[in-house]
Amino acid sequence: MAVSETAKRVRADRQWWKEAVVYQIYPKSFFDSDGDGIGDLAGITEQVDYLDALGVDAVWLCPVYDSPQADNGYDISDYRSIFDTYGDLADWERLLSELHDRDIRLVMDLVVNHTSSEHEWFQRSRRGEGEYADYYHWRDGRPAAEADYDTDDGPADEVAPNNWESIFGGPAWSYVPEREQWYLHLFDENQPDLNWRNLTVRRAMKDVVSWWLDRGIDGFRMDAVSHMSKTDGLPDGDPDGTPTGIEHFSHGPRLEEYLTELSADVLSNHDITTVAEMGHTSIEQAASYLEDDAVGLDMIFQFSHMGVDGGWDPETVGEWDLTEFKRIMSERQDALADRGWDALFLGNHDQPRIVSRFGDEAAHRESASLIATFLLTMRGTPYIYQGEEIGMTNADFESLDEIDDPQTVGRVEQYIADGVADSYEELREVVNAQSRDHARTPMQWSDEAGTGFTDGEPWLKCNADYTEINVAAQRDDPASVLNQYRTLIDLRQSTDALVYGDYELLTPEDDQLYAYTRTLDDEQVLVVLNWSSESATFEGSEIDTGDATVLYGNHDDAPTDPTGASLRPWEAVVYRL
Ligand code: NOJ
Repeated sequence: MAVSETAKRVRADRQWWKEAVVYQIYPKSFFDSDGDGIGDLAGITEQVDYLDALGVDAVWLCPVYDSPQADNGYDISDYRSIFDTYGDLADWERLLSELHDRDIRLVMDLVVNHTSSEHEWFQRSRRGEGEYADYYHWRDGRPAAEADYDTDDGPADEVAPNNWESIFGGPAWSYVPEREQWYLHLFDENQPDLNWRNLTVRRAMKDVVSWWLDRGIDGFRMDAVSHMSKTDGLPDGDPDGTPTGIEHFSHGPRLEEYLTELSADVLSNHDITTVAEMGHTSIEQAASYLEDDAVGLDMIFQFSHMGVDGGWDPETVGEWDLTEFKRIMSERQDALADRGWDALFLGNHDQPRIVSRFGDEAAHRESASLIATFLLTMRGTPYIYQGEEIGMTNADFESLDEIDDPQTVGRVEQYIADGVADSYEELREVVNAQSRDHARTPMQWSDEAGTGFTDGEPWLKCNADYTEINVAAQRDDPASVLNQYRTLIDLRQSTDALVYGDYELLTPEDDQLYAYTRTLDDEQVLVVLNWSSESATFEGSEIDTGDATVLYGNHDDAPTDPTGASLRPWEAVVYRL
């Protein structure tokens, strides 16, 4: 089969961001330097040596811009200043320089689909002032008598302009009496969607992007990119869509045009990386954006593998199947082999903790290090979310009062309104499996009160297991999860085949073992993971493993020849063949 030009380019093109291991920081929960119970920039700077010792090459910093924090910073009220609880621009510059001094790059979050409702643009827009009037999506309501949906907002005889639902639950429209119109918000009501059809909005956003690039950052993680363009005329969605209207607010007709413009006019003039968050996106769609150079995306966070378990469905919560997971992961590895570069992740600030979800809390060290082995040996750029490197787990949220996350609150309220459950207690299991707040509990630095994260009162409940699972307890233990991450990061950085090698899945039907090879020219690595709580035997494949050397094992005495060997529960071994 002829190798396409794109394939040649993707394979040949060595880039720092392909070789990087990225660490994601959620500033609110990482490290509090001033005792107010909320993380801050100076706190991150204090821990830069920790990141350096871990060995990561880049940090992705979740939003630190000025914000009323309705969605922890994904609601920006001023793109050019820092949320004062986190510090100021001087603190940010200090952080950048401390990172750069250690050759760690900084990727900033870029939230351009929406702003905060407190942003000056929206304040002026809601008053209908001049050019701002059309900065957001404003529409007249629809006569209630003509609609087959209901919205508890606005005048009694009106409902929202269409039937779209917000991704956080509830209607995607809110009414503003001052303007006697409704505005669109695909997320929280405090996050109005910008009108990207408006050239002035696009210009304003390009100025923001340039402003940050001029400060010497190394890239952007771009939020909610798939939703930037909406179907013309904002028509009603299929009432069975989840959420309703999704087919009109994902991959709209002008999305490629907007991204191409942003890339051509600003991003492509800098040596930076871009990684776009794209929910509601198939692997094929992701591949087609990535292979189109003009669109300017290096990587995409695509979520097909996050759908492998029961998600928010109370009937199937927590259930998942390894063969299905392997199928999905292999499908994306194969789809991107010649067409693009994957952003590898299992957890982030919107997902539950990976040991609780894909591992076994009872086999904590082994399962956490097995998952780390997976993340750091697949093709793509690995993203480690803060706390994963010590195996942080899901917390127990005993009541809705303990939850901060608007998405969790929105879903629980919607389930109760829809009669799926009568009370929080009935939903506690699903919340404890899926809530975004599991990722947001304070980073566990030590067994001191406040998890060593703060001397004050932490802004969110701490996970009770911090007395056992924390950095201080793991730092000097060579077998700890933390030190397994260090070893694996180092292994990846020193093994070209683990970065650039082709991926091939072995034994796809095995429901305990996940085994694959990574091959680059004559360098071949075999990864064998017993992703289960029972022993398992690797029956082998056509590959000759007689001369294999162990590069990594999460137990001291890994079998020297994997073929026919019995692997202990959660045993992970990486071989050079
Ligand atoms: C995706 C972000 O990751 C999430 O945290 C946020 O709530 C939404 N986009 C809206 O910005």
